[in-house]
Amino acid sequence: MNEPDDAAARGQLWHGRFAGGPAEALQALNDSLPFDRRMFREDIAGSRAHVRGLVRVGLLNTDESDAILAALDEVEAEMQSGQFGFEASDEDIHTAVERRVTEIAGPAGGKLHTGRSRNDQVATDLRLWVRRELHELAELVLQFQGTLLAQADNAGSAHLPGYTHLQQAQPVTLAHHLLAHGWALTRDIDRLLDCLARANVSPLGAGALAGSSLPLDPDGVAAELGFAVRFENSLDAVSDRDFVAEALFGLAMIGIHLSRIGEELILWASTEFGFVTLDDAFSTGSSMMPQKKNPDIAELARGKAGRLIGNLTALLTTVKGLPLTYNKDLQEDKEPLFDSCDTVRLTLLALDGMVGTLTFNTDRMAAAADSPYAAATDLAEYLVVEGVPFREAHAIVGALVRDALAGKDSLAGLVAAHPQLGADAAALLEPGVSVRRRTTPGAGGPEAVADQLVRFTEQLAADRARLTDGP
Ligand code: ARG
Repeated sequence: MNEPDDAAARGQLWHGRFAGGPAEALQALNDSLPFDRRMFREDIAGSRAHVRGLVRVGLLNTDESDAILAALDEVEAEMQSGQFGFEASDEDIHTAVERRVTEIAGPAGGKLHTGRSRNDQVATDLRLWVRRELHELAELVLQFQGTLLAQADNAGSAHLPGYTHLQQAQPVTLAHHLLAHGWALTRDIDRLLDCLARANVSPLGAGALAGSSLPLDPDGVAAELGFAVRFENSLDAVSDRDFVAEALFGLAMIGIHLSRIGEELILWASTEFGFVTLDDAFSTGSSMMPQKKNPDIAELARGKAGRLIGNLTALLTTVKGLPLTYNKDLQEDKEPLFDSCDTVRLTLLALDGMVGTLTFNTDRMAAAADSPYAAATDLAEYLVVEGVPFREAHAIVGALVRDALAGKDSLAGLVAAHPQLGADAAALLEPGVSVRRRTTPGAGGPEAVADQLVRFTEQLAADRARLTDGP
């Protein structure tokens, strides 16, 4: 423990009330600067808007505001270039910026915090940060969707088995399978934008918790920061972290989608499947086994989902049961959020590269998809068209499959010889026939998928436009 020295000399924010400085252990636990310094741009933007608001209501004259705004510019330049000299007393980014502004601007700097608390300040900074970051992440999701679309476009009429229970079920085109992941990501963009809309509310002017006796202008400040509206209730404004929870859920959901893609790539790259070959730049080797080529990116996409879920759980658990309004527990909102954003960014970029450079071994896929058994549903539907009730048709074909598996004859032979089926039905078992018959809207056959490709392209264009217009 260090000797409690003079609190004012150490630049402590609350030095008026305290005779001594904080203990080292308190400072080590309490300081959030190591992680919240990455919000310096938002903190400075919030301060600029606050200063202009104070001028509008006559709490700062223009000499004072000029001095503070110039100091804020200087602090921003120092932070941007890495020249900023942080001090031991800089508890968080808000403290550090204000301390330096006061050093540069002199006495006017002491007026920067007029009518403001770190409670409304930190909520403002974090909302600004979330707004920018989620927007960028949505752009990356869109980029990855573009890669899936390009691969789907290239896939032409290549087909593979569709699976249920990881058992071969019915053949579908490769494009259909790739687009399935693409559509899931469309919902993720939707979720991010939806979360952004609720995050886009300014808490600045709520003060510590109760607003202010000073004639502040929260509406003007909100407009200046590009927020859609200001808070309605000052207590709610400083204690609401719903937007962090929503962001973490949106990010966890993206992580889960990426983990499902990852899991399939791991399977598909295995010797047993052999559906894809990984590009050297996006796969790893083994330190011991020279023959190995490993899908580490896909495994990490699967693994990272765990920490994304953990971050969401951590935040929800932190906020649960907190009494109004600000409690220091809320400082625990930032690390999970930052970590989830960083994790999703890294994973999206790597998986995008991996998927974009995949080689699809379409012969292996087709060989697996063209197993005559994969066309069993087509045989049952052939009988349905002939007027046989589906349940009966299912049983007839099921019995033939059982006989074929027992070695009585090939399935095609048994179908050709069956009185209700015959040669026409047996032709359905020819390679590539079954997949072409899936023609209903949204189905997996090439005709329906050609239409889907158009719709997916339109969806990406619409989302691109939404991101361009967005907050
Ligand atoms: N570092 C704090 C946080 O991240 C800022 C707000 C502190 N407010 C307070 N009254 N101690 O939440």
